[in-house]
Amino acid sequence: MSSTPQEPGLGSGYNPLVSPQLEDPHPFYSRARREEPVFYNPALGVWVVTRHEDICAVLAEPGRFSSVHSITAGAPSLPPEIIQVLMEGYPQHPSLVDNDPPAHGRLRGLVAKAFTARRISEKEAHIRARAGELIDGLVKEGRADLFDRFAHPLPAFVIASILGIPASETRRFRRWSDDWCAVLVGQGPLEELVTQARGVLDLQRYIAAALEERKASPRDDLLSDIVSAAQAQEPPPSMAELVGMLMQVLFAGHETTAGLIAGAVELLLHHPEQMKAVRSDPGLIPAAVEEAVRMTSPVTAMARTAVEDVTLGGVRIPKGAHLRLAFASANRDEERFHEPQRFDVRRADVKNHIAFGQGIHFCIGAPLARLEARIALELLLQRLPGLRLLPAPSPGFLKSLTIRRIERLDVEWDVPAS
Ligand code: HEM
Repeated sequence: MSSTPQEPGLGSGYNPLVSPQLEDPHPFYSRARREEPVFYNPALGVWVVTRHEDICAVLAEPGRFSSVHSITAGAPSLPPEIIQVLMEGYPQHPSLVDNDPPAHGRLRGLVAKAFTARRISEKEAHIRARAGELIDGLVKEGRADLFDRFAHPLPAFVIASILGIPASETRRFRRWSDDWCAVLVGQGPLEELVTQARGVLDLQRYIAAALEERKASPRDDLLSDIVSAAQAQEPPPSMAELVGMLMQVLFAGHETTAGLIAGAVELLLHHPEQMKAVRSDPGLIPAAVEEAVRMTSPVTAMARTAVEDVTLGGVRIPKGAHLRLAFASANRDEERFHEPQRFDVRRADVKNHIAFGQGIHFCIGAPLARLEARIALELLLQRLPGLRLLPAPSPGFLKSLTIRRIERLDVEWDVPAS
């Protein structure tokens, strides 16, 4: 059975930015996979795809499903005041995740080499040292919001340092990144949104200035590599393309991984028997990370646009329509995972998850995210004995159509005798 935009079906009850789906979208997704796996949601103006098989079918055909609106489809249109501010900055150019071949491949080639598993493994000591310093800064306190003090600053520092941005700037990046998120969601008081849009311009200017600086005097960092590789391309990418691409790498490089680290710790603390297994065999940590990626799916959904009339899961979707691919739902699909709602660090079918996507847009940062989360769990479990959740009101969730993660994680531990 299918519903069209004219027929209200299950889809009109879909509201991922509002309680209770904001806190837990999974009961709704389970029902959708059973009753109406591809449905139209009039509020967002998108077709939502919930089954693993259908999502993989879309990802396999970038020629029929364009990525150009992958972030913006379904997002509310911005007030004219905000558009005016943004027009003062670099024009929004498709870059990586919101681009199609051949331009996508050309830009991806500029950064992908820096993020291979081998290149990333060389960063292990550096990441471990930073994670250790963050723990040194809180271990005596006995309690903390671990999201704010550890899960977010660690990946923000790491991605900034890979690019060649000084550690002293990571706080500013956090603010700018929050600003960008808020502008993408486009909700909230107008005055605040204007300030946030100005934050986005500051970020653009900062990146452009850093690129210009590397052009004049190259260093041993990714920004310099990008500048020299870009100059070798014919025609070379514009400054607007490079700025857009680096904003995506910066943003994707920490908001997602912060969600994974916090989510992995929270899952382990909610499942004492799984925590016990990991503590008694730390060799299980990489598997725990992978299962946490599946369960949390920090990139909750991305969009595609039908380039032609298509039929998906028996539903006819017209050319030009937007599809929202619910990765979070695919990763709990009963057809692919045994007892999908269960957190199980020994899960045999975990490799079926598509939390990092699939196909030409497969996440370039997957090796980095996995490494950071592994180091984070290793150090937190070693250095914060008796780690436990503090009774706290709901941690709150980021209001974003793309990223789903908690906003705080209140924990306590036994202060080690010094
Ligand atoms: C747990 C952490 C992460 C998750 C769950 C995640 C998830 C994803 C997903 C699902 C996609 C595909 C989007 C699509 O098909 O439309 C993607 C693409 C991407 N990710 Fe990640 N990501 C994570 C961490 C990172 C990190 C650390 C970086 C830093 C470099 C990164 C950079 C990117 C980029 C640049 C793309 C676009 C690739 C392209 O379009 O060719 N991600 N990510």
